Amino acid sequence: MKKILVTGGAGFLGSHLCDRLVERGEDVLCVDNFFTGSKRNVAHLLSRSNFELMRHDVTFPLYVEVDRIFNLACPASPIHYQHDPVQTTKTSVHGAINMLGLAKRLRARILQASTSEVYGDPEVHPQPEAYWGRVNPIGVRSCYDEGKRCAETLFFDYFRQHRLEIKVMRIFNTYGPRMNVGDGRVVSNFIVQALQGHDLTIYGDGQQTRSFCYVDDLVDGMLRLMDSRPEFSGPVNIGNPCEFTMLELAERVLRLTGSRSRLIYKSLPLDDPRQRQPDISLAENELGWKPEVGLEDGLKETISYFRMALSG
Ligand SMILES: NC(=O)c1ccc[n+]([C@@H]2O[C@H](COP(=O)([O-])OP(=O)(O)OC[C@H]3O[C@@H](n4cnc5c(N)ncnc54)[C@H](O)[C@@H]3O)[C@@H](O)[C@H]2O)c1
Repeated sequence: MKKILVTGGAGFLGSHLCDRLVERGEDVLCVDNFFTGSKRNVAHLLSRSNFELMRHDVTFPLYVEVDRIFNLACPASPIHYQHDPVQTTKTSVHGAINMLGLAKRLRARILQASTSEVYGDPEVHPQPEAYWGRVNPIGVRSCYDEGKRCAETLFFDYFRQHRLEIKVMRIFNTYGPRMNVGDGRVVSNFIVQALQGHDLTIYGDGQQTRSFCYVDDLVDGMLRLMDSRPEFSGPVNIGNPCEFTMLELAERVLRLTGSRSRLIYKSLPLDDPRQRQPDISLAENELGWKPEVGLEDGLKETISYFRMALSG
């Protein structure tokens, strides 16, 4: 049994990760400031003797004893990370410094939840890890994109300078139960709009594409990365390479919810990338990982979660 710290553990991905770790019999310390996460997401774990929940903001140092750290704390949707952009950068950068400092003191292995946003609006498609990205450093998304890039820099400097065992994971769009109802991300937006009988908002012409990974696949990739050989640091892309246009996604959501909502078109938000698709060959070769859950099955699970969340 290892002692495992999950920062951002009461969020969407973090709570699923805590589920899996608790099931595996690990001793889990979940730390969160509940900015976008919620106690509800982990309420079912509170009675488990190998789970503990702590309110803490990772921009401040944390003194605990653990063997491994999953650093997920950071708001992930544009609505939330643009709400207080300075705090977003602080969470990524000061959060990384604090967690890396803790890992250094404890000689603990540490994993960073980075993002496909480090590739910005890419000229290379699909994006391999060797691609350096095309990111606007002064735009409205920069607090998130550049914060995450700086966190990656810190991870690799701690690796080079302090020989820390690091794992950097670049997460592509992930969806599933416990996504925040009001987070404005496309999958939750469409489902909530469809279930409430509102028009589905398509930004631009709807031809921009995304690839969507189901949360169970994502958490599986995260666990495999954490357990990978010590010399393997990444960065490694984890995501589903199956691409869909926003229009295709909207049509599927309408069909699966049985909704009669219509589509309405609005202008594209600033710096919205046209295309995003992971090259997952490194994850396949190094971790033996590839996604297993198709969009149809994943959407069905997510829709039934949102039906329940909206009714209660
Ligand atoms: N979901 C995705 O598609 C996706 C894609 C790329 C990267 N990621 C990364 O994965 C991680 C988890 O994302 P998510 O989708 O679960 O988002 P989320 O917003 O549901 O989870 C983030 C969690 O971090 C907590 N948090 C925020 N600031 C904090 C702070 N200063 N101190 C302590 N806790 C804080 C929030 O309360 C929340 O529980 C994030 O780092 C995000 O950048 C997610």
